[in-house]
Order: sequence, then C-alpha cells, then structure tokens
Amino acid sequence: MNSCFIFLVLMIRIRLSTMTSHYKCRSGVYPRSSVKRLNVSDDRVSWDSEFKDYNPPYYTSDSVKGKSWADPEIDTPNFSPKWNQIERDVNRKSHMGHYNIVNGYPLNPTGRTGLQGRGVLGRWGPNHAADPIVTRWKDVSRDILQFIAIKRGDTGEWALPGGMVNPGEKVLTAAIREFQEEAMNSFEASEADKENWKEKFKDFFSKGIEIYRGYVDDPRNTDNAWMETIAYNFHDETGAVVGNIKLQAGDDAIGVQWVDITPDIILYASHKDIIDSVLNKHQKC
Ligand code: BGC
Repeated sequence: MNSCFIFLVLMIRIRLSTMTSHYKCRSGVYPRSSVKRLNVSDDRVSWDSEFKDYNPPYYTSDSVKGKSWADPEIDTPNFSPKWNQIERDVNRKSHMGHYNIVNGYPLNPTGRTGLQGRGVLGRWGPNHAADPIVTRWKDVSRDILQFIAIKRGDTGEWALPGGMVNPGEKVLTAAIREFQEEAMNSFEASEADKENWKEKFKDFFSKGIEIYRGYVDDPRNTDNAWMETIAYNFHDETGAVVGNIKLQAGDDAIGVQWVDITPDIILYASHKDIIDSVLNKHQKC
C-alpha cells in the first residue's frame, strides 16, 4: 500500500468518527430555546483546527440556575470544582480521559459545538447518565433482536430508557432504577408490586453486560458541558423473564414498547450507535 492511500483512509476514518460522534450537538437551534448555534463545519470541530475569532453565543438556561442539583455559574465566589476528579458525590471525571480547562471553563473533549455555557445541563463538564438496554428475540427463529424503547417527553424521539446518575449512585443501579421508572412506571407502583419485581428480576438485572462507556452526541451538549453514559445490556435469551413484562411509560417518558432493531431505526442522540453494538454482540454469538 502506498503512503498516499494510507493517508486517505486515515483522513476518511477521522472524518467519519468526528461526524458520527459529534453531529447532533452542533446544528440549528439549541433545544428548548431560540438560541442559534454558530455553524461549525466538520473540519473545524476539533479544537486543534484553526477557527479564527471563534466566539459562539453563550447560553445557560434559567431552568438550571439556582437549582440544588445543578452547579452555579462558573464565576460564583467559592465555587471551585475539582475538574477531572470525583468530588464528594459529584463525578467530574470523564470516560473520555483528561479534559482541558480554558479560562476557567471545561472544554468538550469531542470539539466545538457552536455554543458556550451549559444550556440546560446541570453540570459543567461531564454530565453522567446510565442506559439499560433490555433485549429479547422477536420469535423462535432468533432473526430479529428487539429492545425496550421509550418515547422521550421532551423531543418525542424514541430512545433508551436511561437517565441521569444521582450523586453518589452506582451507574448500574441508576440504569436499573431508570428502567423501572420509565418503562414500568415504578413511581406509581405500590410497595408490594415493587417488592415483587425486586424478587422476580433480581437475577436478570444482576447479569448486565457493559456495552458502551463514553461521550453521547446529545443535542443538549455545549462547548463546556456534555453528556456521557455507561450502557448495559440485559438480555433475555428465551423471552421468559422480561418477555411478558407489563410495560407502562413513567417519569419523563410518554411511550414505551418493544422495538425491532433494524438498520433504518432512528433514535435520540447517538443511541443508534449503542444499539448497533448490542446487535453486533448478539449476532456474533
Ligand atoms: C438520557 C439517556 C441518554 C443521555 C445522553 C439522558 O437524558 O436519559 O438515555 O443516554 O441523556 O443522551
């Protein structure tokens, strides 16, 4: 192979990975606002590429200001976050490795998004989520894998039934809790029902397999705040355990159902990439 060909393949790879991992969070109007992102072309996403006078709009939503679960503004006296560390119960470490701090602000490790501030995200830097991927085969032929998807109340898109990790909570615990809240409406279940589920699904949920850990191309990301997740697959090979589970949307989900994993499936953020890894794993088995 000549060096020119190798270079070309490398460039295409870099471009593809930038495009798929950092695409939904650098286009159009920021969610739940009228703030327009500065347009960042593919070749200027990387902080290493030159972008003279890069000065995108600054936006932090009023919905996060002054909230006990959120950070204050960066310049608030006595606010001195321990970047890249776990600070008491707040995890400011990124799954992507060390991130840089410039002028006091953490920088999105995947590059420019065309918006400064933290939009509607609670934390500066990484905001940690957990995602459960509950799967089964559609029928005995084992040709089509299905997963439990929820319809998000905020965007109306189908997504994994995940959510934010609470301070001090284990990520796996958060994934299971979110599943029960969003796909089984545990908020409205009786204590007796919850005890019953605990017994019934204890074994099933103890066998989660980590599928993905890292950045999520979420439309809420900014230059200074971004979503990361750890996704676990809980697979029911025979369909006997969760196959007949009673699904009921709860919390901020407005719909829930088993969905066929097909190549053309459209999902929130970069959940499709995560689902593809699950499919890949089961197809190889
Ligand atoms: C969702 C997770 C998702 C994360 C990043 C959270 O709001 O509940 O399912 O992975 O955002 O997009």
